[in-house]
Amino acid sequence: MGVSHDQVHSTRVVVLVGLMGSGKSSVGRRLAQSMRLDFYDTDEMVASATKKSVRELFVEGESVFRSHERDALVDALERASKGSGVVATGGGVVTVPQNVADIQRHASAVVWLDADVEELVARTSSGTHRPLLDGGARGKLEEMHRERRSLYESLATLRVSTKGRSIASITELIATQLGSVA
Ligand code: S3P
Repeated sequence: MGVSHDQVHSTRVVVLVGLMGSGKSSVGRRLAQSMRLDFYDTDEMVASATKKSVRELFVEGESVFRSHERDALVDALERASKGSGVVATGGGVVTVPQNVADIQRHASAVVWLDADVEELVARTSSGTHRPLLDGGARGKLEEMHRERRSLYESLATLRVSTKGRSIASITELIATQLGSVA
């Protein structure tokens, strides 16, 4: 019988990855509630640490945002590892190799919310807080889908297709899957 992640890690650190609009924050919050774990959202942590919006930080430069995002990720992973927690990351967190290494080191499960471009376009159409989608969300999302898919794929220990599923049913599916490897 194989050794499960939860036997390797004494705490439960569940990290959610996926493109913008895949539902990481909404699913993560719900999942944390249902599994009675703490919840960390790296975008929110960046905003509260800097007192600036993601958009304002991108005006200073993407590298400025990535550096704050890295600090938030490290903080979230360390805090979650001390207790147990769910960490919702920003879609671009996987573009920094050191972030990937830290997630691999701390996470007992990495869940990839795999959404197709149509869904992502629909889900991101309402907000203006995602500067990387300025000037054509569909084209940008198609590009990110192409470029990042393999990064999510190699990092994930669980892939969940979000197509046709509500936030509630995605959450339930993940909780069931994680429960079954405990
Ligand atoms: C980004 C995703 C965003 C946010 C920033 C950059 C990306 O987070 O971190 O706009 O590079 O994909 P969400 O995935 O939560 O929208």
